[in-house]
Amino acid sequence: MSKTATITIGNNTYDMPMRGGTEGPEVVDIAKLYGQANVFTYDPGFMSTASCESKITYIDGDAGILRYRGYPIEQLAEHGDFLETCYLLLYGELPTAAQKSDFDYRVTRHTMVHEQMSRFFSGFRRDAHPMAVMVGTVGAMAAFYPDSADITDPHQRMIASMRLVAKIPTIAAMAYKYSIGQPFVFPKNDLDYTSNFLHMCYAVPCEDYKVNPIIARALDRIFILHADHEQNASTSTVRLAGSSGANPFACIAAGIACLWGPAHGGANEAALAMLAEIGTVDKIPEFVQRVKDKKDHTRLMGFGHRVYKNYDPRAKIMQKTCHEVLRELGIKDDPLLDVAMELERIALSDEYFIERKLYPNVDFYSGITLKAMGFPVSMFTVLFAVARTVGWVAQWKEMIEDPSSKIGRPRQLYTGAAKRDYTPIGKR
Ligand code: CMC
Repeated sequence: MSKTATITIGNNTYDMPMRGGTEGPEVVDIAKLYGQANVFTYDPGFMSTASCESKITYIDGDAGILRYRGYPIEQLAEHGDFLETCYLLLYGELPTAAQKSDFDYRVTRHTMVHEQMSRFFSGFRRDAHPMAVMVGTVGAMAAFYPDSADITDPHQRMIASMRLVAKIPTIAAMAYKYSIGQPFVFPKNDLDYTSNFLHMCYAVPCEDYKVNPIIARALDRIFILHADHEQNASTSTVRLAGSSGANPFACIAAGIACLWGPAHGGANEAALAMLAEIGTVDKIPEFVQRVKDKKDHTRLMGFGHRVYKNYDPRAKIMQKTCHEVLRELGIKDDPLLDVAMELERIALSDEYFIERKLYPNVDFYSGITLKAMGFPVSMFTVLFAVARTVGWVAQWKEMIEDPSSKIGRPRQLYTGAAKRDYTPIGKR
């Protein structure tokens, strides 16, 4: 017999079906509750609400587990490359060698952007935040590529997915080049995805630029770590925007806008600013005191997570990657790294953080790593967006291809004024 959950409201009981996934908690399907009982459920921030069914990413926050399509993140980051992860997220399986080379070829052939797009950039102020430029230019892709904006056509959906994954590094590198007043660098199709991105960011027309393979591998791994994270705020934003039938470019632009916030993608920028504000190891106890003081409203940026109540599995790989990059670049004494390591040590042994299950998240070490690679702080969230685009696209595709999906339309608990009559302006 299938399991049900019984909800009692006053003298009435309602049986709601329960559903189990492959892993993770079962869900109570309350879709018919309003129709039967005339009540809504209330769950601000979706603390207990599954907003959709998905086969893409699985997280067990208590155990510190993250898997894409069943594969542990540690194995993907160790053995695969970012485009392999992209294929896996988009199509559900790891590619064969032939599928991989075909996919790499197709992505590579979509890396250039419409030449008119280059001129679109010059409408922005040079000092515009690159995330503002990203929101604008990715949204504008719908104007440049209207031939892949029909979401009802599977071929157009595939082309739009390919274009987004392939062009996002080009657009991100252009946003960077524009902000520093350097000419745009065209993609080079003989480079792999991440080396090509580094080349577009750091090459200049007047001299040769050789991509450091260790740095390229480290950034590729960072992209793998950030590629998807199930129904986080920006992904839910993409799904909600897409649920109305909006074109994929507009949906991904909406995701980028959401990612910009300091509680989400902006956290690595905030974590680095915090480490710089602390400055030296001896200032840590004073800072930790401020974090614990509720009246102060200071948070330890790069710590805590809505889902992980254990060490973020991405943070472990990120910490290792950070050390590898600093070693490769010959950075021996980075004061920010000293502060980060000591802060981590103190926080992991302090009752305040233990009690609240606050562990370092992926952003704690990513800021130091990206800074060492030469990226300015304003580019950190842009890099996150480059990596997460494939996750957004995979989740958007999954939703569009699910025949049962509906427009997202949450309900509310209204606590505003009850009906009252309009008073003419002279009588108020
Ligand atoms: N520093 C100090 N205290 C914290 C922190 C923190 N970073 N995070 C949570 N707390 C405390 C919070 O004050 C509260 O304490 P109390 O119970 O005494 O009131 C308790 O822990 C629970 O906090 P919450 O705000 O209810 O937890 P949440 O699940 O809503 O917040 C979070 C998750 C990520 C927004 C939060 O931990 C945070 O603001 N962290 C810093 C920002 C950050 O690093 N964000 C990146 C997230 S990872 C990247 C990504 O996946 O996008």
